[in-house]
Amino acid sequence: MVKQDGAAIQAAARALRAAPRVLVATGAGMSQDSGIPTFRDAAGGLWARYDPEELATEAAFRRHPARVFGWYAWRRRLVRAAAPHAGYHALVALEGLVPELAIVTQNVDGLHTRAGSRRVLELHGSLERFSCLDARHPFPADRAPEPAADTECEPPRCERCGAPVRPDVVWFGEMLPEQVTAEAWALAASCRAMLVVGTSGLVQPAAQLPLIAREAGATVIEVNPDPTELSDAAHIVCRGRAGAVLPALVAALTQGATQ
Ligand code: OAD
Repeated sequence: MVKQDGAAIQAAARALRAAPRVLVATGAGMSQDSGIPTFRDAAGGLWARYDPEELATEAAFRRHPARVFGWYAWRRRLVRAAAPHAGYHALVALEGLVPELAIVTQNVDGLHTRAGSRRVLELHGSLERFSCLDARHPFPADRAPEPAADTECEPPRCERCGAPVRPDVVWFGEMLPEQVTAEAWALAASCRAMLVVGTSGLVQPAAQLPLIAREAGATVIEVNPDPTELSDAAHIVCRGRAGAVLPALVAALTQGATQ
């Protein structure tokens, strides 16, 4: 395993340059440098401050719809006020430097698309989409209430069936969206290099993707300031923040291409 900083960046750039298909898998750490909290970091992680059983399950929404809807509205405000950092723009640039690139994200913040990445698969849904609880009828985002303060907020009702409207994100105990998942799994099995950025690797089934890629012969590169469950599966580990490592990686790739 290549670990040392400069050497790891160079090795990662070489692996990306040689790959006809690159898959990037991102988690909450990708957005940390944009000021959006992760879930499990001891300092500031959302699950250190909030109980997921009370906010990120269908049962919680049925018990306290206004509390859950209001919490997601708060997260949406946070995300809207944030901007994609240099690491996001580096991934957009990377798209132009390799033959084929896709991003599979566990994030619901939409920052990859806002930065300009074109092929983004959202495994856990999006804060900006809504559907009803029972039939999952889509609900227009421009009709969702947006409370200005951190308060509880009664969800609207589905215009077709009257069920309460929920954020279109994946909660604990729920299945991932079928088509997106099938596409992500196929990309993991066929990529030649996989960049794994800012995920603890603790949430299934997303944590399987790097293992599938490795099994299929891809070079796995981890970008994360801390060791994770996935570090042992990585061939190359770039220890650092996404906002610093990804621009350095793209700079190394660009320099290599012009040498
Ligand atoms: P976690 O909060 O579990 O992990 C965040 C990872 O980001 C950790 O490994 C950190 O070391 C790393 N990290 C922190 N700052 C970083 C930075 N600046 N640059 C790069 N990495 C950094 O988040 P996820 O793995 O994304 O699901 O969590 C997966 C799922 O758990 C989420 O999608 C969410 C959550 O519960 C649901 O809500 C269903």
